[in-house]
Amino acid sequence: MRNQVHMPRRKLIAANWKMNKTISEAVSFVERLKSSPAPQPGCDLLIFPPFIAIPAVARLLGDTGVAVGAQDIFWENEGAFTGEISGPMIRDAGAEYALIGHSERRHVFGENDETVARKLMATFASGLRPILCVGETLEEREAGEAESTVEKQLRSALSALSRENVKRLVIAYEPVWAIGTGRTATPDDAEQMHAFIRRFVRGVFGDPIAGELIIQYGGSVKPDNAASLLEMEEIDGALVGGASLDADSFLAIAGAIPRQ
Ligand code: 13P
Repeated sequence: MRNQVHMPRRKLIAANWKMNKTISEAVSFVERLKSSPAPQPGCDLLIFPPFIAIPAVARLLGDTGVAVGAQDIFWENEGAFTGEISGPMIRDAGAEYALIGHSERRHVFGENDETVARKLMATFASGLRPILCVGETLEEREAGEAESTVEKQLRSALSALSRENVKRLVIAYEPVWAIGTGRTATPDDAEQMHAFIRRFVRGVFGDPIAGELIIQYGGSVKPDNAASLLEMEEIDGALVGGASLDADSFLAIAGAIPRQ
């Protein structure tokens, strides 16, 4: 049966700078971005700078339509949590999005499905839009457990969410073995996983929520492989690490979106 008819999904191209760029380097990037031609209609841009560069980046981007997000969030609003940054602080700094459960948070900093679920709720509570990252390791893929791993991550993260929450959710499929390795999922493998994720969301929340959900792909997306990924029906954008550090390369990825 055909899926319910819905508006074509916009493509969301996001730059995850990770722990890169000083404030002045971030400012230079934004100046370059602003002096370049805007991407085609139907494409939204989003930048995740390090926390301390968010205010400068957000201020400079102003009303350009390019959004800003935080790479992480803590689940409490304030208190004795040395080193942490809360949702209200992120909002106040000018961001609209927060990245939740990135594989580096899970694997380097020991985050798990429980902390991811708490952070997801905090993101909604502070009026931010979360990008929830899911993805399997190489061992899990080779053991034939890619889908069951992602399903477990989704089940845990989405279990406490309302329909209103899910309407504001973005999911990023980032296979751990493709992050920073130069090895990307084939467009067909990525498409298959994206379709699996959408089916899962449809099973819980139905359409039109599932049909309108933006599912990004992340993992070694570069200007030269972006078109083959972004032309896939189920791939609604990219979450770009290394290739997003240079404004021209980031814009070239957005420019690789096939025209509708
Ligand atoms: P790379 O594009 O450097 O592989 O990083 C992907 C990523 O982790 C984006 O969040």
